[in-house]
Amino acid sequence: MEGRCEIGVIGMGVMGQNLALNLARHGIPVCVYNRTAERTEAFMRERVREEPIAPAHTLEELVQRLSRPRRLLLMVQAGPAVDQVLEALVPLLERGDVVMDGGNSHYADTERRMQALAARGIHFLGIGISGGERGALEGPSLMPGGSPEAYARVEPLLTRIAARSEEGPCCGYMGRGGAGHYVKMVHNAIEYAFMQGIAEAYDVMGTALGLSAEAIAEVFERWNEGNLNAYLVGLAARVLRYPDPETGAPLVERILDRAEQKGTGRWAAQSALELGVPAPTLMAAVVARTLSHFKADRERIAAGFPWPDGWPATAPGDEVEALADLEAALNLVVLTAFSQGLWLLHEASRAYAYGVDRGEVLRVWRAGSILRARWLGFLREVVREDPEDPHLLFSPRFRAEIRDRLAGLPAAGRVLRLAFAHGIPMPALSTAVDYVLSMRRSRLPANLIQAQRDAFGAHTYERIDRPGVFHTDWEG
Ligand code: 6PG
Repeated sequence: MEGRCEIGVIGMGVMGQNLALNLARHGIPVCVYNRTAERTEAFMRERVREEPIAPAHTLEELVQRLSRPRRLLLMVQAGPAVDQVLEALVPLLERGDVVMDGGNSHYADTERRMQALAARGIHFLGIGISGGERGALEGPSLMPGGSPEAYARVEPLLTRIAARSEEGPCCGYMGRGGAGHYVKMVHNAIEYAFMQGIAEAYDVMGTALGLSAEAIAEVFERWNEGNLNAYLVGLAARVLRYPDPETGAPLVERILDRAEQKGTGRWAAQSALELGVPAPTLMAAVVARTLSHFKADRERIAAGFPWPDGWPATAPGDEVEALADLEAALNLVVLTAFSQGLWLLHEASRAYAYGVDRGEVLRVWRAGSILRARWLGFLREVVREDPEDPHLLFSPRFRAEIRDRLAGLPAAGRVLRLAFAHGIPMPALSTAVDYVLSMRRSRLPANLIQAQRDAFGAHTYERIDRPGVFHTDWEG
């Protein structure tokens, strides 16, 4: 391919390859580079056909082939690899060039890199990219953050390759500093909670209701037609139907029950703790993955701790009713997870001066992202009605529309009882119920905690009947 390329993609893992192909298929000439040249060559040989893609064998060659100001997209593993690439790349760049990091980098790293590059007049953007490998190729959801000026230089390219919803391309400016990666981190934390909620529903259907993987797939498919219409719900059905080529049994049943995580969900939980935002369902999903890892311990403890004879104390009852309860319960988990994630985003945006527009975030998640779901349109309307109210789930509109019908606590309560009777852990659902119960309670028993703190440590307390800080000699 002759002539200058409009963008350089560094890192030829599957995501980098697919984004390069997506860009090129939209008529954008791309130059690609990978640290090991074999990978670039294999990509050119095996996947590139008519697309305007040129390989570069050194960073110098890559930089020379780009039109100015240069635009580069890093698709390397989050962590030290990003710093290593930047160390080699930045001396080759000029003022005004734009470097984008499309990996799942930590927002604090992104801010540090942004400042380091800004000192040399180079723009740095942190871009959350969602949609997995397929999304990268066919249209991802893009969450860029950094300076508005830098974003303006890459916006035409990014909006061209993004997924599209009826509200336009699923790419939008998320805010200053590390906002793009912060938003993606929150996206992933909600993703974890959503997946945990789905897994719990699967467990109840299999363990308590005795449904086969096939029958559970049918239920998810049905739910996917209604309010629970979501990529992850449809995907659960698809995965449950997939047969193990060796045994013919559902492959999912042959998969080791140890969930991995790369860190984004945990970072969100850590950030929530740091900012003092209660996000119990997001945290529970992280903890559930961590706990699942202790397979050997679980096996040992399970052998010595059989579920007591005579349990379940509650018969499953009518299957149709139980499934309706379960659907309502999963809706509650999903809405609670979004609610907690969006509260976290609200506080982070304030604390770090990101200037995040949560309505825009929800619009960008509408298509292409792993979180794409019917609820997003409704959530966006709720946010738009009162952008300053952090509590979506408790907004008047939410209450009026769904409190009794869908986010039905009684249904969730029945599911928890059924699950408990069968010894099924429900971290996502139980924390979701707990969250709603706590937030709707004007008086919590924290008064006793305060009294005890004062009694043993003179930590003082406030009173409900007059202002001030008080201490009592509780022994006297
Ligand atoms: C997406 C996903 C993806 C995510 C991975 C890893 O939006 O496409 O969120 O980017 O980071 O699925 O997540 P784990 O922590 O589960 O490995």
